[in-house]
Amino acid sequence: MTNPSLLILPGDGIGPEVMAEVRKIIDWYGAKRGLVFDVSEDLVGGSAYDVHGVPLSDATMEKAQQVDAVLLGAVGGPKYDALDFSVKPERGLLRLRKEMDLYANLRPAQCFDALADFSSLKKDVVAGLDIMIIRELTSGVYFGEPRGIFEEGNERVGINTQRYTESEIDRVARSAFEMARKRGNKVCSMEKANVMESGILWREVVQKVHDEDYPDVELSHMYADAGAMQLTRWPKQFDVIVTDNLFGDLLSDLAAMLTGSLGMLPSASLGAPMANGRPKALYEPVHGSAPDIAGQGKANPIACILSFAMALRYSFDQGAEADRLEKAVEAVLAKGLRTADLLGEEGVQPVSTGEMGDAIVAALDESL
Ligand code: IPM
Ligand code: MG
Repeated sequence: MTNPSLLILPGDGIGPEVMAEVRKIIDWYGAKRGLVFDVSEDLVGGSAYDVHGVPLSDATMEKAQQVDAVLLGAVGGPKYDALDFSVKPERGLLRLRKEMDLYANLRPAQCFDALADFSSLKKDVVAGLDIMIIRELTSGVYFGEPRGIFEEGNERVGINTQRYTESEIDRVARSAFEMARKRGNKVCSMEKANVMESGILWREVVQKVHDEDYPDVELSHMYADAGAMQLTRWPKQFDVIVTDNLFGDLLSDLAAMLTGSLGMLPSASLGAPMANGRPKALYEPVHGSAPDIAGQGKANPIACILSFAMALRYSFDQGAEADRLEKAVEAVLAKGLRTADLLGEEGVQPVSTGEMGDAIVAALDESL
């Protein structure tokens, strides 16, 4: 039997340093749990542009299509701000999402007990929070045509198009209902059916999928603006939220910050099942490349490590090992270890990116 394959794309900014800590975790699973991965590494984003003149080479794209899972660090940085839109680092990530057809983006927002004080909201509003945002990732205004900046009379006009087909809504709705059945059995769908035809269709299709195939799941609908308001007012009313690409981008940042620690949150982007029955998949932290702290050992590796935990669960059928890794992270936080993004408590000295990784490996050892 061949080992499961993993393509690692560290990317830019803090991407490489947080990924170095994930490597320690991957090595630990190989050495201590007999879970050996075929790991290859390649370039994405600005680092790919520096070498190939594009933010994702065709060869890397091809590799990503072949492996069991892709793990990505982060892309972007001020060095690349002036580049033409078509070769900006972000385009590399968007190409991966689109060509792998990763339509369901899972963004959990979980508040770790040890960190409830870091939220800008009152502790009782966020303590124990555990919601899952499922963001449609391959369509909507991010990809709709026509798009561009055009001449119109004596001025220019910028155009993007919000566009959703019934099948695109159908498949992501199914992902949400399936997820809800494994959690709190509740889905809230968010759109702007009061102003957008794409929102009207979204609501209709989600309702139809529910009535036909998931009547056991509790479904509600909310306008996305009201959803943002409810997320800050009382986020624990939600279990699974399903929404489109752009609203999902905004609402997932909002949800992430409720937990007080963007440096902690992982994500999974899943597509249709491959021949082996597992979905095409890309895992990445929700945070960006943080160029201001890159290379200083200040970055928090936990979001990227938890993204690997999601890979264990969704791509490699290792739910128990994913639980083990998540518990190891919790144990380290409960002991009081904090990277620089999590300071604020009296007298706490930050640990470096590498020390945090080592502590999680030690906690994994203790779990045996
Ligand atoms: C995200 C990011 C991306 C997005 C950028 C980097 C293209 O904000 O993953 O949420 O807008 O989708
Ligand atoms: Mg975003």
